[in-house]
Amino acid sequence: MNSSTDTFIRAELISFTRDPGDGNMPESGSLEHYGDGLLWLKDQHIHAVGHFVEISPSLPEGADVLDYRDKLIMPGFIDTHVHYVQLDIMASYGRQLLDWLNEYTFPEECRFANHAHAEALSAAFLDEMLRAGTTTAQVFGSSHPGSVDAFFTAANKRQLRMLVGKVLMDRNAPEALMDGASGIADSERLIEDWHGKGRLGYSVTPRFAPTSTKTQMDAAGALLRNDPTLWLQTHLAENSGELDWVADLFPGSRDYLAVYEASGLVGPRSTFAHGIHLDNGMRKRLADRGANIAFCPSSNLFLGSGLFDREAAKETGMAFTYASDIGAGTDLSGFATLKAAYQVGQLGGQPLTAWQGFYGLTRGNAKALSLDNHIGQLAPSLEADFVVIDPQATSLLARRISRCTTLGERLFALMILADDRAIFETWAGGQCQHRRDNV
Ligand code: GUN
Ligand code: ZN
Repeated sequence: MNSSTDTFIRAELISFTRDPGDGNMPESGSLEHYGDGLLWLKDQHIHAVGHFVEISPSLPEGADVLDYRDKLIMPGFIDTHVHYVQLDIMASYGRQLLDWLNEYTFPEECRFANHAHAEALSAAFLDEMLRAGTTTAQVFGSSHPGSVDAFFTAANKRQLRMLVGKVLMDRNAPEALMDGASGIADSERLIEDWHGKGRLGYSVTPRFAPTSTKTQMDAAGALLRNDPTLWLQTHLAENSGELDWVADLFPGSRDYLAVYEASGLVGPRSTFAHGIHLDNGMRKRLADRGANIAFCPSSNLFLGSGLFDREAAKETGMAFTYASDIGAGTDLSGFATLKAAYQVGQLGGQPLTAWQGFYGLTRGNAKALSLDNHIGQLAPSLEADFVVIDPQATSLLARRISRCTTLGERLFALMILADDRAIFETWAGGQCQHRRDNV
């Protein structure tokens, strides 16, 4: 009998067990690839994965197998840094970071005082993420705690594994967005209500050093010390005007990173967005603490912030992840993030292989967020979050893919040419949460 909780999908399967290295081919044992594979789901998790011919004899009698042999399945994409509250200001004519924040971002975030608006945007944002094949993200709300309640509620409804936090800002921002002492109390309430509930986690979220006093950052550090299972997200060294501002505001600090270190914000569950303008000393200190930099290539190009140096990151052992950084980022799609990362790499003589890119977007991002026991790989007992990719989604893609003779070529073509049209389905928690042809 086909148990009602079991699902069987026959498709090409791709998943990384570890970093594939920098070569033209993935290091031995780092990639699992089943040209004709079977994914067996049970109770929101992956029960078995492997070659169809090997697993099919153990299927229950009468098992109803979804036939996706013309599709390619990968773990769901992960976005380590994104602002859901900025969805509606994407593509606002950009200058540099600080002007862009004042002109578009802060006024937009004021709208999240209205709970109905926060609910509508949470739903719209998550639907867009699913359309792009992203199943987990680390997300900034606005400074209104209700923006986080709305987001957690919407994520829970869709069974998504999501990290989110209320922005902390107690200076240098519009009056309506500043929180003062209530910011920490509101964060504590949100942690109590949501952290560890179902698939949800709380990320303590001081926006960046210029908009928090040392008192507020110290209090954020105390939250992390009290509960080491919390995450931390903020921004670091994105833009030269920002660097000058931080140096003015913290004249006694050795450098920008030391501001965060002094408040206890740098640890293995900390994500610092951008990290473009770092020296090797800062990179090594981040590496020693196990923190990661979220590389946000489409945002860095859009705001003209600079070119992230992946080679320096690797040489110093500093972990980095891949992220969209909507609304400065120009695309929610993981494919587009990798394409921009490849282009940024090209300008610095550091081209990105498709192996590195797709490893980063899945298992690499999961590992850096300490979520690799749950997501990021197609492996038994992990949560059933994955994307079903249609390599024939457009006539152009179909033409290009038909000329590829190796898996590496196909993945690279997807990285450069694919977009949300190539996401046929997105599954989270063992359920199909988005189907392209239904919309
Ligand atoms: N630095 C501080 N806040 C922000 C933000 O909202 N977006 C980006 N890209 N950088 C920031
Ligand atoms: Zn950001």
